[in-house]
Amino acid sequence: MNVHVFDSNEKLNEAGAGILIGTVQTKPRAVLGLATGSTPIGIYEEVVKEFKRGLVSFRKASTYNLDEYVGLPAGHPESYLEYMKHHLFDHIDLPAESAHIPDGSAADPEEECKRYDAMLADAGHIDLQLLGLGHNGHIGFNEPDHALNSATHVVKLREQTRAANARFFGSLEEVPTHAITMGVGAILKAKTILLVVRGADKAEIVHRALTGPIATEVPASLLQTHPSLVVLLDAEAGRLFR
Ligand code: F6R
Repeated sequence: MNVHVFDSNEKLNEAGAGILIGTVQTKPRAVLGLATGSTPIGIYEEVVKEFKRGLVSFRKASTYNLDEYVGLPAGHPESYLEYMKHHLFDHIDLPAESAHIPDGSAADPEEECKRYDAMLADAGHIDLQLLGLGHNGHIGFNEPDHALNSATHVVKLREQTRAANARFFGSLEEVPTHAITMGVGAILKAKTILLVVRGADKAEIVHRALTGPIATEVPASLLQTHPSLVVLLDAEAGRLFR
């Protein structure tokens, strides 16, 4: 495990974008696993900047997002598809058909999970999986539990997670109750995992996840078992690693 603590968000974003871009430069047909939320926004901004400077092309790459809310109508501004378009897809040359994200408006979400897993299996291993971290230690929307699901599945969001995400919606009631998430199987099969964590409110959970016991009650603790884990922390989230 490689843990880096950054004094400035700018440096963290450059490092994160550098790893993502480097993956695609080395392997133009790279399969990228992508995350949403506040954490990767600065990294995506940096990737777009470098793309516009002509330093990288995503023409042959493909992407698989970790998760999507269930039940939001197509085009809802808080859907993760809209997020990805806004922050990344609309600004780079990734072909639309190469960008994959679970369809949260599918009539049968369970079937949609199977379809997504079949696509992931066809894609082979994810080369680089970008992850943020939930306050309760979730990765993707794999919430703490006595057992975790390896495959893509429908999950009932914890109230803590809905409350944390209410800042993007008008009110808590508008936050969907369920999501589709990639399971820990596909995440742990990625060749390299890039975990990014920011903010004082995540200092304890990231420290516990990476140095405490491995337990499904802290899903991110499973990342300790991964042979190629890179962790980027801002100074506040990295307080306990100094
Ligand atoms: C998002 C995702 C979630 C977030 C986590 C942290 O695709 O899978 O696990 O990474 O909830 O969210 P932020 O970055 O908003 O603090």
